[in-house]
Amino acid sequence: MTTVAVQEKIPCLDLKGQHQQIKAEVFEAFEKVYESTAFSGGPFVEEFEKNFSAFCQTKFAVGVNNGTSALHLAMLALGIGAGDEVIVPANTFIATAWGVTYTGATPVFVDCTPDTWEIDAAKIEEQITSRTKAIVGVHLYGQPFDVEALQGICNKYGLYLLEDAAQAQGAKYKDIPVGGFGEMACFSFYPGKNLGACGEAGCITTNNEAYYKHLLSLRNHGASVRYYHDEIGYNMRMGGLEGASLNVKLKYLPDWNNRRREIAKCYQQEITNPYIQMQAQPEWAESVYHLFVVTTENRDGLLSYLNEHNIIPGLHYPVPCHLQKAYAHLGYSEGAFPNAEYLASHCLSLPMYAELTDEEVRYVIEVVNAYSNA
Ligand SMILES: Cc1ncc(COP(=O)(O)O)c(C=O)c1O
Repeated sequence: MTTVAVQEKIPCLDLKGQHQQIKAEVFEAFEKVYESTAFSGGPFVEEFEKNFSAFCQTKFAVGVNNGTSALHLAMLALGIGAGDEVIVPANTFIATAWGVTYTGATPVFVDCTPDTWEIDAAKIEEQITSRTKAIVGVHLYGQPFDVEALQGICNKYGLYLLEDAAQAQGAKYKDIPVGGFGEMACFSFYPGKNLGACGEAGCITTNNEAYYKHLLSLRNHGASVRYYHDEIGYNMRMGGLEGASLNVKLKYLPDWNNRRREIAKCYQQEITNPYIQMQAQPEWAESVYHLFVVTTENRDGLLSYLNEHNIIPGLHYPVPCHLQKAYAHLGYSEGAFPNAEYLASHCLSLPMYAELTDEEVRYVIEVVNAYSNA
């Protein structure tokens, strides 16, 4: 059926190729951490913070132990807590909402648009109450959300804007890198991200010095001077090995993102199967294609068809946040957010990572094009 023969299964994501390429350099960096015993925080983390804030064109970056902690600490730095409400998209990875819940505040979900699959700005205002303190926009699948629309609503109602940029290291909105559009932006460096640590890590970027200083204290037991704890704090520092691995990888990120863009362009231009829909991309959005999500009427049919052809897709995400059991107490029911619910039951993620070969990309395109909904 296809003109290209591919030997191996093609997963949604494979980290081995990337790590083989940079193994010697990463091991050399690990050795320096080992010799200096700077395992928790320290100079390797500080160097990464400097490099990453420059990359995002922000004044500050605070390294933490993962992206979920980044969201949690950003909420705390904004003073959000019990009794407050925070607007969050229904279609995102659950951690966007965890950050709100951990503070005692309540996430208030909003549907996505039917085409960009990102938070529908037109549906936010109806959810704002006197308790609303902030909106979290998510640069979903690597594509920036409608920043100006959300900034406009925040300005009108006196709300804070936070970016969940966990999936979008290097993405640009109107030619400006994500990370500096809200009060703070939260990044994940989970190994599977476009920029992933050899371990768990995350960070918060900001242009606000007061938030920056507060975050330094919050991540370090609420202390700016050792053993003097000015507030309830957390142990959420980034590890030295993680920082060192991120320093090596950050240099390669622009090339890796470009390769993802190249692959995405092939998918967008050459997948012509009318049963397949793709994420709509406004002209101001420069995605880094963390994931390449498509939808189709008969998702389970496509899923087993692709598996039979050695393509192993992912599902991002099979249950929208408002219908997760963990949030049953919030009282949402099916039908509350039809676009997010449609996406959850019809989405599937095609293979997407920089090390996919041209041959593998061609194979995926041919197999997907040969799919019929029968
Ligand atoms: C949109 C989004 N927000 C937050 C997170 C949480 O990041 P982490 O897994 O590093 O805690 C992730 C990634 O897992 C994510 O995709």
